[in-house]
Amino acid sequence: MSTKKRILFVDDDPNVLGGLRRMLRNLRDEWDMSFADGGESALRLMEQQPFDVVVSDMRMPGMNGAQLLTEVMRRWPRTVRIVLSGQSDREMILRSVGPTHQYLAKPCDAEVLKGVVYRACELRDLLSDENLKTLVTRVASLPSLPDLYLQIVEEVQSPDASIQKIGDIIARDVGMTAKLLQLVNSAFFGLRRHVPHPAMAASLLGLDTVKALVLTAQVFSSFESGRIRAFALDGLWRHSVAVGAIARKIAAAQNAEPQVVDFALLGGLLHDVGRLILAANLPAEYAQVCSASDGRGALLWQVEREKLGTTHGEVGAYLLGLWGLPDPIVEAVAYHHMPTRCLARGFTPLTAVHVADALELESHGGEGLPAAEDTAGYLAREGLSERLESWRRLAAEVLAGGGVT
Ligand SMILES: [Fe+2]
Ligand SMILES: [Fe+2]
Repeated sequence: MSTKKRILFVDDDPNVLGGLRRMLRNLRDEWDMSFADGGESALRLMEQQPFDVVVSDMRMPGMNGAQLLTEVMRRWPRTVRIVLSGQSDREMILRSVGPTHQYLAKPCDAEVLKGVVYRACELRDLLSDENLKTLVTRVASLPSLPDLYLQIVEEVQSPDASIQKIGDIIARDVGMTAKLLQLVNSAFFGLRRHVPHPAMAASLLGLDTVKALVLTAQVFSSFESGRIRAFALDGLWRHSVAVGAIARKIAAAQNAEPQVVDFALLGGLLHDVGRLILAANLPAEYAQVCSASDGRGALLWQVEREKLGTTHGEVGAYLLGLWGLPDPIVEAVAYHHMPTRCLARGFTPLTAVHVADALELESHGGEGLPAAEDTAGYLAREGLSERLESWRRLAAEVLAGGGVT
């Protein structure tokens, strides 16, 4: 899109604003930048004209960053919300986990800041429907399976809480995994290193932080089981965990780089997160989509495209991208039903996730490989057609052996 993106920077320290102004001067032709010295003046600017992205400091006199971003989320849900903050504000940061899409640490490298804002702007083109864009940009957390939610609350409250146990619970839950990866991938927490497994994300953050997230910040929440008529919740979780396990096996059997193997697992676990977002936020509408696809034997994503103008792949990828998850995971989620649309070539996490998803569905007679839009064409394009039979055997092993967790 060629229209200039509007970016608002908020900081009570004039030196910081001055520094940003100088650092980003050469982007004047692409970005329309405004600078506010506090939450109140930021809101006044936004009232005059909406912004695509807000980058805010955390600790400010008067309205702090968490309060500002909460207000922005409420009044201008379509705006991307980024925190740029000092390390000493950790406590406050934990309170802003809901309304914040991404965290950057001060001092921030110009390239990192540009990269994050660029990517957020680019992602906005992934969803063309403005209402859906608003809906997803507003999502603060993803509901968990009620049973797993109870387990994690119990575990963090227990006097001998174990980070391993907590990690294992998180690894079985789509929503908690996504939220944790958002934090671990942020520069703020200073980790930004490769996370091989959701359980590892929990131990990287540490027991105290995870406790605070669950109990104080309440970043996890439970699905009210009665509300979700769209699909059987348990089924989606089982499917997601299985697809993650199969995708991981497929990537490992392909002798892929360790990082590709890990992204295959995470991409598999998160690939249908868009279904969760749609079911939680548009319950009635999405229930109709699901029953229309059951009734007509049509593929779910095709009915979604017909009725919503987009698919759960794009919806999920949009949120995970806003949350700053690594590109290969976002790509695997976006294109898992239409892999040929992806420009990346060769064996990628997407390959593993696409095939694992189709094989898992095939195993119980669902939308399987033969029906997938272009699996055969895609595998042929990548020179992988002859691998399919052995992958099918791998999937059967995983599904039979309970090697799913
Ligand atoms: Fe899907
Ligand atoms: Fe799926």
